[in-house]
Amino acid sequence: MAADKATKKKKIAVIGAGHVGLVTAAAFAELGHSVTCVDNDKKKIVHLKKQILPFFEPELEELVKKNIRKKKLSFSHNVGESIRLCNILFIAVGTPPQADGAADLSAVENIARLIARNMKEYTLIVEKSTVPVQTGIKIKETIMRYRRGDIPFDVASNPEFLREGKAVYDCFYPARIVIGVETERAEKILKDLYAPLKVPIITTDMNTAEIIKHASNSFLATKISFINAVSRICDLTGADVKKVAQGMGLDPRIGREFLDAGVGYGGFCFPKDVEAFSYISKKVGYEFRLLDEVKKINDDQRRYFVEKIREHLWVLKDKKIAVLGLAFKPDTDDMRFAPSIEIIHSLVSCNARLRVYDPQAMNEAKQFLPKRGVRYAETLYEAVRGCDCACFLTQWQEFVSADFKKIKTLMKLPLIIDGRNMFDKKELIRIGFTYASIGR
Ligand code: UGA
Repeated sequence: MAADKATKKKKIAVIGAGHVGLVTAAAFAELGHSVTCVDNDKKKIVHLKKQILPFFEPELEELVKKNIRKKKLSFSHNVGESIRLCNILFIAVGTPPQADGAADLSAVENIARLIARNMKEYTLIVEKSTVPVQTGIKIKETIMRYRRGDIPFDVASNPEFLREGKAVYDCFYPARIVIGVETERAEKILKDLYAPLKVPIITTDMNTAEIIKHASNSFLATKISFINAVSRICDLTGADVKKVAQGMGLDPRIGREFLDAGVGYGGFCFPKDVEAFSYISKKVGYEFRLLDEVKKINDDQRRYFVEKIREHLWVLKDKKIAVLGLAFKPDTDDMRFAPSIEIIHSLVSCNARLRVYDPQAMNEAKQFLPKRGVRYAETLYEAVRGCDCACFLTQWQEFVSADFKKIKTLMKLPLIIDGRNMFDKKELIRIGFTYASIGR
C-alpha cells in the first residue's frame, strides 16, 4: 500500500533550521528516522555541517553531533532537492509578526510553492510553524494550484509546543501531540512517527489543531498578565503576589505554573502569537478584546519596572545601573522581544549609564541594545562594580546562587530591583540591601 510505503521510507525533511526546525530534526533522527534539515541560509547550513549550532539550547549540540555521527541527520541548503528526495516534509520556517500584528506567512507560502513544483510522489506536508487558523487550507490550495500533474499529497497540522531552554526535553516528553489531518493516510504516517514517544495524541481537523496552538500560547500569556495585574494590586496594598500565586496555584483547576509575576513575557512566541491570534480572530469576525488587554498589561509591566527604578534613584541621568539578565528567559541566548530591550532603551534615553551582563546572550544582545550608554561586562561582579542600582531581569541560576555579600561591597549603593521575584527578600535585606521587586 502507498501509505505503508511512505511510512516505511520515512525520509523526512524538516524545512527551516530555526529553534523549532533544528530541534525537531534532531529529535526525529534520535527516534531512528533519516532526517535532512534544510534551510536556504547557506551560511547556517555550512556551520551546521561543521556541527556549529546557530543558537544556544541545552543538550541540543550533543544530540545533533550524535545523530550526524550515526548518519541519521544531515543538512542541506537545497530546498528543492530535499523536497524531491523526501516524502514527509515538516514546514518549520519563521512566521514573524508584521506591523499590524498579522503573522507574515510569505515564507510558508514560498515553501508550499516549492513543494508543489518539486514533489515527485505521494508527499505528506506537515506544518510545524505556529500559524493562524486556516493556513493549512491555504497551503493545500497553493500546492493544488502549482503542482505538476496529479501527484497525490496531504497537508497536516502538527503544532510544536516546545519551550526554548527545555526544547530537547519537551520533544521527547511532550504533554501531548496534536495532529490535524484530513485523511487516514496522513493520520497513520504521523501516528507511526510519534509512536515511540508513548504520549497522548489528539487527532483533529487542521483548523482545530491550528487553534489549539494559538489558544495555548495565548492562554499562558493571559495567565502571566493576570498575575502581573494582581501584582500591581499587591504593590498598592502591601500584599505578597508570590503567596497569592501559591494560594491560587494549589487549586488544581488553576495550577501554579505561569503565575510568576515580573517584567512580563517576551520571546519569539507569546508576543507574536497573542497579536496574531487577536488579528485572525478579528479577521474571521470576532473581537478578542481580552487578548488586547493581555498585551497592554504586558507592555505596562516594563514601564512600571522603570518607574520602580526611578522611585528609588529619583533622577536617572548619570546613574550607573547594572542590568543583569538580557535574554527573554534563562537557558537561552534568545533576545527577541526580551523585556530587557525596552527597559534598557528607556533607561538610556534618560541618560543613565548602563553596565549589562548575561551568561549566554551577550553577543545576541549587541544587535538589540542601543550603541550609546551601554557597557558590556564579563561577569556579574564586574557589572555591579560602582553601580547605584542592580536590576535583575532574567532568573539565571548563576544569579540566584551569586555571592551577595561580595555584590554589596562592590556596589556604590546597595540597591537591588528584582524584575523576576527571584531572590529571598528577607536575606537580601539582612545583608544590607535595599530591595524592591514586583508585587511583594
Ligand atoms: C512558549 C510556550 O511555553 C511553548 O509551549 C511554545 O511551544 C513556544 O512558546 C512556541 O510557541 O514556540 P517559550 O517562548 O520558549 O515557549 O517560553 P516560555 O517558557 O513559555 O516563557 C515565555 C515568556 O513568559 C518568558 O519571557 C518568561 O520569562 C515569561 N514567563 C513565564 C513569565 O513572565 N511568568 C511565568 O510565570 C512564566
